[in-house]
Amino acid sequence: MRPTFAEINLSNLILNYENIARHIGKSINIMPVVKADAYGHGMINCVEALLKAKPKPHFFAVALLEEAFEFRKKFKSERILVFGKINEPYFKKIIEYNITPTFYELDLIEKYNRICKEFNTKGKFHLKIDTGMGRVGIDIKYLDDFVQLIRRCRHVNLEGVYTHFANSDSKDKSFSYEQLKKFNYAIGLIKQEIKNVRYFHCANSGAIIDIPESYFNFVRPGISLYGYYPSDETSRSIPLKPVMSIKTKLIYLKWVEKGTSISYGRTYITERRTQIGTLPLGYADGYNRLLSNKGKVIFNNKLFNVVGRVTMDQIMVNFEDENVTYDDEIIVLGSSENVKFDASDISKVINTIPYEVCTSISKRVKRKYVY
Ligand SMILES: Cc1ncc(COP(=O)(O)O)c(C=O)c1O
Repeated sequence: MRPTFAEINLSNLILNYENIARHIGKSINIMPVVKADAYGHGMINCVEALLKAKPKPHFFAVALLEEAFEFRKKFKSERILVFGKINEPYFKKIIEYNITPTFYELDLIEKYNRICKEFNTKGKFHLKIDTGMGRVGIDIKYLDDFVQLIRRCRHVNLEGVYTHFANSDSKDKSFSYEQLKKFNYAIGLIKQEIKNVRYFHCANSGAIIDIPESYFNFVRPGISLYGYYPSDETSRSIPLKPVMSIKTKLIYLKWVEKGTSISYGRTYITERRTQIGTLPLGYADGYNRLLSNKGKVIFNNKLFNVVGRVTMDQIMVNFEDENVTYDDEIIVLGSSENVKFDASDISKVINTIPYEVCTSISKRVKRKYVY
């Protein structure tokens, strides 16, 4: 078996969660966002760990119905909200499995009501309002139609209302405050007509960190749980520790002469006699090919350069004169005492965001869970 694995530090996950809880205050609930296999960290193990945190979360969120089914197989009593669209053929299943859907279309609410009547149940759901994200959700100008329909639908229960920020992680918060204003207006309208809506939520990590007015009674952190700030423009008011590190060992080490070319395309030529190490991970593992000649690894508290093109299963590193052996652990994503090259650093090198770096680490990389 190759020695490459992603170490998932569940103590850090709990620490991040509890730091978020301290920051927002006691009366507000946290709905951890565990979609995309908990941003690549492993949903089941992360939820198990979060259930040990204080205060214990009782509502989680995923993007897909498939993810909710996977969640429900393992966790029988915790609530699960699906952000994404669920179509009518699955309504019986979501009632049976106690999965909470999101709706933003009139016809689906009516159909859900009909199926709930058949099952003689009152189906809970959350309503998504589009206040400026432009992805999914009700345009506020049609909100009254929704409110009137929901009042008529006796077999459904509007449990929650939410919206999503487009740029709560940018320094300029003016658009977020515009969104909040619209959301507050929608809440006012809904509360006038529908009694006992329990939950109002809109804060993602950027808003949790810097927009306290957005907390209502639930917040939905994703990336901050996994130890990263959503951007460089948010404050650092919540201490966070990355949860994932990727570690491996050398599978080949050799001295090469000056002028030796390394990897496909011969994009790197050694400038002097040096040691080139080969590590068993590549772009099929989610180690982005754009890291060719730009990535770094950590060994002995120092950074070493990835040289030549990243290949599907292997990368090459210039270890120069370092005393490195086949037994040594090399950190490909993560940090040591003095240096780091984590998902945030990688995202800058390849011009993306830590979200994409973490979620791209493929299933082929074994996850090792530690506390
Ligand atoms: C609807 C919704 N809420 C909350 C989140 C969590 O966002 P973040 O990871 O920025 O905290 C996401 C993630 O994209 C989302 O789609």
